[in-house]
Amino acid sequence: MTNFSIAGKVAVISGAGGVLGGSIAKSFVQAGAKVVAIDIRKEPLDARVEELIALGGEAIGIVGDVLNIESLEKVAEEIVGRWGSIDILLNIAGGNLPGATLAPDQPFFDMKIADWEKVTNLNLNGTVYPSMVFGKVMAKQRKGCIVNVSSMTAYSAITRVPGYSVAKTGISNFTQWLATEMALKYGDGIRVNAIAPGFFIGDQNRSVLINPDGSLTERSGKILAKTPMNRFGDITELNGAVQFLCSEAAGFITGVVLPIDGGFSAFSGV
Ligand SMILES: NC(=O)c1ccc[n+]([C@@H]2O[C@H](COP(=O)([O-])OP(=O)(O)OC[C@H]3O[C@@H](n4cnc5c(N)ncnc54)[C@H](O)[C@@H]3O)[C@@H](O)[C@H]2O)c1
Repeated sequence: MTNFSIAGKVAVISGAGGVLGGSIAKSFVQAGAKVVAIDIRKEPLDARVEELIALGGEAIGIVGDVLNIESLEKVAEEIVGRWGSIDILLNIAGGNLPGATLAPDQPFFDMKIADWEKVTNLNLNGTVYPSMVFGKVMAKQRKGCIVNVSSMTAYSAITRVPGYSVAKTGISNFTQWLATEMALKYGDGIRVNAIAPGFFIGDQNRSVLINPDGSLTERSGKILAKTPMNRFGDITELNGAVQFLCSEAAGFITGVVLPIDGGFSAFSGV
């Protein structure tokens, strides 16, 4: 029998205070993983950890910044001291930032450089830095699994979000690069993959997808027209795919970006 279990594994999850990270963290605890929930915001994080423990799981919360290597190193030390290993890293912290989204009639030439830098830094370096710190522990263990979060913006252009798109495309490429680096230098025990979620309604995109009266925006209509399944994803639909990528069942899978998108990336629109 192939083993789809992640029970007993120690999983570091960044952005666990958020919508996607929270849902995946809950599913991990329910599957018996020990979860280290990291988020820069204390409030959603505290509530999340309470929720994870209430589910009967083992979980700790650490307020941390994925862009601060020194603080990540302390976190890594603390986890190894407490649980002995780091088996899984889910780089989920990230997302678009309001200032980095061009208004419908705003020319690209007026884009705010500070916001471009913020969004590319958070998404790309926010994946690279934790991979350096926790990946180093995995290299020593010769065992581990990293899952990054790319996006549909990495497949073809999505209007108005240039910085986010470039950063997510970088994450897809970095996933292949790091998968190769880890396997060549540290053996077949370390795997690096990514998921590319399609469109899920979360805090960051709700206002561009849903009108205040609850109806769908024009942008939503365009998204659904290019999604053969003709609906948005339910965030729980990411959970099984991430668990699979972290389990022994995926033991020969590394360097892939798995779309979870109702067919969006497969469809030309015609
Ligand atoms: N919601 C979607 O439809 C969708 C689609 C594709 C990809 N994604 C990606 O999924 C991931 C999670 O998205 P979400 O919708 O759950 O967003 P979210 O805003 O609900 O969660 C992101 C979390 O990351 C945390 N965070 C931000 N900066 C941080 C930092 N420097 N250090 C540590 N934590 C930090 C935030 O506090 C927040 O809790 C993002 O990478 C996003 O780009 C989301």
